Amino acid sequence: MSGEWWRHAAIYQIYPRSFADGTGDGIGDVAGIRGRLGYLKDLGIDALWLSPWYTSPMADAGYDVADYRDIDPVFGTLAEAEAFLAEAHDLGIRVIVDIVPNHCSDRHPWFQAALAAGPGSPERQRFWFRPGRGDNGEQPPNDWQSNFGGPAWTRVPDGEWYLHLFAPEQPDWNWEHPDVREDFLRTLRFWLDRGVDGFRIDVAEALVKDPALPDFADMPIGVPAPWTDQDGVHEIYREWRKVADSYPQGAIFVGELWLTDPERFARYLRPDELHTGFNFPFLSAAWEARDLRTVIDRTLATHAPVSAPATWVLSNHDVTRVVTRYGRADTRHTWDLTREAHPADLALGMKRARAAALLSLSLPGTVYVYQGEELGLPEVQDLPEEVLADPRWVRSGHTDRGRDGCRVPLPWSGDAPPFGFSPAGGRPWLPQPPEWTAWTAEAESRDPGSMLTLYRTALRLRHETPALLADGLRWLPSAADVLAYARGDSFACVVNFGAEPAELPEHTEILLASGDLVAGRLPADTAVWLRTA
Ligand code: GLC
Repeated sequence: MSGEWWRHAAIYQIYPRSFADGTGDGIGDVAGIRGRLGYLKDLGIDALWLSPWYTSPMADAGYDVADYRDIDPVFGTLAEAEAFLAEAHDLGIRVIVDIVPNHCSDRHPWFQAALAAGPGSPERQRFWFRPGRGDNGEQPPNDWQSNFGGPAWTRVPDGEWYLHLFAPEQPDWNWEHPDVREDFLRTLRFWLDRGVDGFRIDVAEALVKDPALPDFADMPIGVPAPWTDQDGVHEIYREWRKVADSYPQGAIFVGELWLTDPERFARYLRPDELHTGFNFPFLSAAWEARDLRTVIDRTLATHAPVSAPATWVLSNHDVTRVVTRYGRADTRHTWDLTREAHPADLALGMKRARAAALLSLSLPGTVYVYQGEELGLPEVQDLPEEVLADPRWVRSGHTDRGRDGCRVPLPWSGDAPPFGFSPAGGRPWLPQPPEWTAWTAEAESRDPGSMLTLYRTALRLRHETPALLADGLRWLPSAADVLAYARGDSFACVVNFGAEPAELPEHTEILLASGDLVAGRLPADTAVWLRTA
């Protein structure tokens, strides 16, 4: 475990609630993850990223943290987490944990103290408390809206309002306050001392706010909104980087950065800030050769000046699963499209998702795989309304079904729910579709044509093929609806987005194909890896 592993790692995202349940309460936990480490080793990933496992009332499934330095009892204990870290490391798997610095839980002791201490108190200064507008302060202090719907302000009984860019149960920290800065440094050290290999930073661009809290409607066009991407945020990450660099294991940061301006995105990846950031333009792109080529070129051009590796991400716990997205008429990710169900041709989506796997696993940089992607799980678009747990559902006045459809507990084995997710008799916190019999890890392990077999083979080849560790790519001549590129001097990947079968470039061996070739040509929505020398 040496060198700059993070420049070309394959990282698997675990969403703990939905990965594996070791205790039988229907909710995934650390015991469940420990029990499946062998599966992750066989899959061939280099590292794990775990969504939050901290003490939390779960108003946003753990992204509302009440204690950053302990594990929620639903997930287990700190001792179990430590044992898990040691076991993962023994298998050569690194572990990245989530850190949620923009906001905490309303049950966090400092927020509770702020509520109790009242207006004007030092305790309130760690958050954004303000008087309201209007004759009696009955209007929010400004016009900012919560990401989950409704105003970004909630009023407390003494009349003041507090800021929350997400749910009311997630008050935003005031990063101008030294206590907040100091406490997060403590949290970083706490986990680094326990051997974690990195942090995924939640809502990484939003920590610093324009302290004047101006109305958004009054802002000039073309500057960042006053709650995001403020210049002061970079100083925080420079400080964090120094802490991470002071540890022998050399921990890394990956930022959740939903920024549209590539230059501003790259500023976060300067050598003394974050190592990497999620590539959301790639995740959001349509299944379309020209769009994807533009995104790939732009990604590489954005990262080169700061010498940061690109990341390639097809999905995560917030967005529609790829098989479903690629089977829809509109194959992009947009937040509007996640609000409700849309018809999807899952056979077509599966074909494309297989091809997309070979695309994303052969581009230069780090690749992320969201749990279940390797099984080809579809989005569960028809969860009954009464089980929907995402705060988006309630906050939107029941107009946005939220993100639960990509968070349904994984099917591991057997032919009926809980599909080995929970011990027999356990009832998963979201219902699994009965037809997932065909998508269990067990069934797919036996099937040479399954998505799981494709991922396992591709990840093995990725490790065995030195060309895939080379920097950059070279586009090869191809038809307009085909992407063909070379890596190093002996590898090429070709993806056909068009309807007509495509000719393959000269090669000595077909390493892997996402579907059958037809008379040596590459059919629609299929990808192939070639040895070229
Ligand atoms: C990030 C997380 C998402 C969460 C939000 C608020 O976007 O990925 O799941 O709801 O932050 O913490």
